[in-house]
Amino acid sequence: MDIFSPVELGDIRLKNRIVMAPMTRSRAGADALPTDIMVDYYRQRAGAGLIVTEGIAPSADGLGYCRTPGIYNGEQVRAWTRIVEAVHAEGGRIVAQIMHVGRVANALNKPVGSETVAPSSIAARGEIYTDEAGMQPFDQPRALALDEIPAVIEQFRQATANAFEAGFDGVELHCTSGYLPAQFLSTGSNLRDDEYGGGVVGRSRFALETLAAMVAVDGAGRVGMRICPDNPFNDLSDENPQETFDYLLAEAAKLDLAYLHAIRFPTGRVDNIALGRRYFGDRLIGNESYRFEEASEVIASGELSAVSFGRPFIANPDLVERWRNGAPLAKFDLDTLYTPGPRGYIDYPAA
Ligand SMILES: Cc1cc2nc3c(=O)[nH]c(=O)nc-3n(C[C@H](O)[C@H](O)[C@H](O)COP(=O)(O)O)c2cc1C
Repeated sequence: MDIFSPVELGDIRLKNRIVMAPMTRSRAGADALPTDIMVDYYRQRAGAGLIVTEGIAPSADGLGYCRTPGIYNGEQVRAWTRIVEAVHAEGGRIVAQIMHVGRVANALNKPVGSETVAPSSIAARGEIYTDEAGMQPFDQPRALALDEIPAVIEQFRQATANAFEAGFDGVELHCTSGYLPAQFLSTGSNLRDDEYGGGVVGRSRFALETLAAMVAVDGAGRVGMRICPDNPFNDLSDENPQETFDYLLAEAAKLDLAYLHAIRFPTGRVDNIALGRRYFGDRLIGNESYRFEEASEVIASGELSAVSFGRPFIANPDLVERWRNGAPLAKFDLDTLYTPGPRGYIDYPAA
């Protein structure tokens, strides 16, 4: 298949197979509210076959980084509606990445009254940036009680309903990078002795029940999932990621999701693309350091349905057009990746 040809992933129709990967850019305002510059940023990138938004918190507890957005109140939903409408007006498609950070947080980045929760009370080793005090250690999380877990899953269901109210074409469960679902999945962060811990069935329960709750809102055709087995980011560790993800994906495949978004990790113990193909062969988005030529090849061969690109979209809002025309790519400025304001965000020109 041609990389510029359309493809259907569940109920979502992509005009081409070049997906914009989710990227936290820390441009949200007070109260985790999407800002006007975010409308421009996403509109500029609507040439992608599909935009996956930056991680969006389903609750105040789910926030952990500074200036990141939420989708858990009416004001946020209205702000996202403007972003979705802008992308749709340009003929683009956009899904909301639902991201609950769990223990990957510092209280300085969270609203008063919110809490840092996790499967077990084990702090992630490392530090996180805060506007108030620079780098700070990760919070010591409070372990969720068994009877609290349904309410956390409900946050994901409500966030999905809110995303559809805002007009999003779909939602993507962020199930990697050391955040809450991945914390439940992994032996290093989940020491629970109830039905949400222990063996692979227990550790997968949170992610699978969360997916089922998201699917219950409007069917599976608008729900995707992102994974990167064996990724140690944010102090994540699992004794046997092959076993964990074989089980998780075999069960997730039964839900008939719109797509799986797999990040390759060549130095890890799992071939993440081969794994993804085994369970989601006909609706697999691949990611991580693809260049145009390689992406075109793996789509032509049928290995992947689409490829997502993160960093190339930062300085090339018109990335698809540049590739169509063979135009050179611009390089992005590292210093303004996460800074507030328009600079290094919406001021990269089209070619
Ligand atoms: C600035 C930045 C922010 C990111 N934020 C997220 C995020 O919110 N959610 C996520 O799943 N991945 C996030 N990622 C990872 C990207 O989606 C992607 O996996 C990574 O950039 C590799 O793809 P690339 O080689 O095409 O850039 C982020 C990457 C960058 C560079």
